[in-house]
Amino acid sequence: MESFKFIDLFSGIGGFHQAMVRLGGECVFASEIDKFCNAQYEKNYGMSSDINIRAVKEEDLPEFQVLCAGFPCQAFSKAGKQEGLEDKTRGTLFFEIVRILKQRHTPYIVLENVRNLVSHDHGNTWRIIQESLRELGYRTTASPLILSPHYFGIPQIRERVIILGKYDPDHIDEPLTLDFGEFKKKEDNSIYDILEEGPVDDSYYISDYEKMVLTAWDEFYNGIDLKVIGFPIWADYFKYTGDFDDLPAWKAGFIKKNIKLYEDNKEFIDKWLDKYDNLAGFTKTHHKMEWQCGTNISSVWDGVIQFRPSGIRVKNPNNFQALVAMVQIPIIGKYRRRLTVEEAARLQSFPVDDKDHPFIPDDNRQQAYKQFGNSVNVEVIRRAAEELFKQ
Ligand SMILES: C[S@@+](CC[C@H](N)C(=O)[O-])C[C@H]1O[C@@H](n2cnc3c(N)ncnc32)[C@H](O)[C@@H]1O
Repeated sequence: MESFKFIDLFSGIGGFHQAMVRLGGECVFASEIDKFCNAQYEKNYGMSSDINIRAVKEEDLPEFQVLCAGFPCQAFSKAGKQEGLEDKTRGTLFFEIVRILKQRHTPYIVLENVRNLVSHDHGNTWRIIQESLRELGYRTTASPLILSPHYFGIPQIRERVIILGKYDPDHIDEPLTLDFGEFKKKEDNSIYDILEEGPVDDSYYISDYEKMVLTAWDEFYNGIDLKVIGFPIWADYFKYTGDFDDLPAWKAGFIKKNIKLYEDNKEFIDKWLDKYDNLAGFTKTHHKMEWQCGTNISSVWDGVIQFRPSGIRVKNPNNFQALVAMVQIPIIGKYRRRLTVEEAARLQSFPVDDKDHPFIPDDNRQQAYKQFGNSVNVEVIRRAAEELFKQ
C-alpha cells in the first residue's frame, strides 16, 4: 500500500505507530489509558492517545484501512454452548476490536500478543479469537504466526504471536501466505550490535559489591572441573547432610549434584569458600549461580548476567531475553554495567538514533524500561505488516 490510515489501539508508546509510519501509514486515532504512555505519545507523535477504548463509539472513529492492537490477554466466557461468539468475548478488550471490525470491515488488521495466547485457557482463547475473526470476514494464517526480533538479527529473544487479517469474506477459506525468507539463528546474533561501546552514564555501572560477587563466581567457574553445568549451583548445599526424603525429587536431585560437585572439587571449593568467608557478605540469593552458556564463553564477565530471585544467571552474549516490564535489568559482563534505556529502545527497534525524528524515551528511567518492555518490537511488526499488505 502506498499510503494508508491506521488506528493504534492499546497504543502504549507507539510500537505499532512506528512500524506503520515506516510503511507509509498515517495515524488517525490512538487509544491508551496509561498516563505516562499518553505523555510519551503526545511528545513523540504530537497527538493525544488519552482515551479509553471502551468509551469510543465505532461510528465516531475517522476513516482508516489498518487496525493495529497489542491487546491485553484475557479469558473468554465458556458458559453456554449456544452463546454466540460476541457474547463470549463481551467485556474483554478483544471485544472492543470485534465491535469496531464489525462496523468498519477494515481491510487489514495487525494484532499482537504473548506467545502463550495460543495455549491460554486450554486453547479456548485462541479458538474464539480465530472464530471471531472468521465470522467477521477475515482471512488469517493457517497456523499461529510466531515471530521474534532475533529471527531478524535483532539480539532479543521475544517470541510473540502476531495475528494478521485481511478482510475477504468471499475467500475466507484461503489462508494468508507469508514469506519471511530464512530466519536468523539465535547463535548468529550478537548483543554488541546494539550496545554502546564507549562510556555511558555513571549510574549504569555495577556497584563494588556486585563486582565482588561476580568476581567470586567467575573464580568459581574457572576453578572447578565442570564446564557445562546443567544444574544451578547452590553454595549452601555443598556440605548438605540433611534428609532427602522430605524434599521434592527435583530439589533432591540438584542438591545431590551440588554435593558431588563439591566432593569432586573439594580442595578448590574449600579455598574459595575460605577466601569469601563462606559467602557471609553475600545476599542470600547470590549464593546461587546458574551457568547457561555451555562452553561458548569461559568467564562470567563475557556473559549477560541477571541478578534474579532464583540466583545469578549467566547467559550467552548472543541475545538478551525478552524485555518485560523489566525489574532485573540485564548486566553486560564485558562492560561491567546494565543495559541503558537507549539500548533497551534499540532492542525494541525504536529509532532513538534517528537524526531527523529520534524517539525520545521517558525521562523517568524505570518508566522508560517498563514502556519498552510492554511495547512491541517495531521491526517485527513492520516485517509482518509488509507481508500482509502484499496479499
Ligand atoms: C501490551 S500493552 C501494548 C503496548 C503497545 N502496543 C506499544 O507498542 O507500546 C497494552 C496496553 O493496553 C492499555 N490498555 C488497557 N486497557 C485499555 C483500555 N480500556 N483502553 C485503552 N488502552 C488500554 C494498557 O495501559 C497497556 O499499555
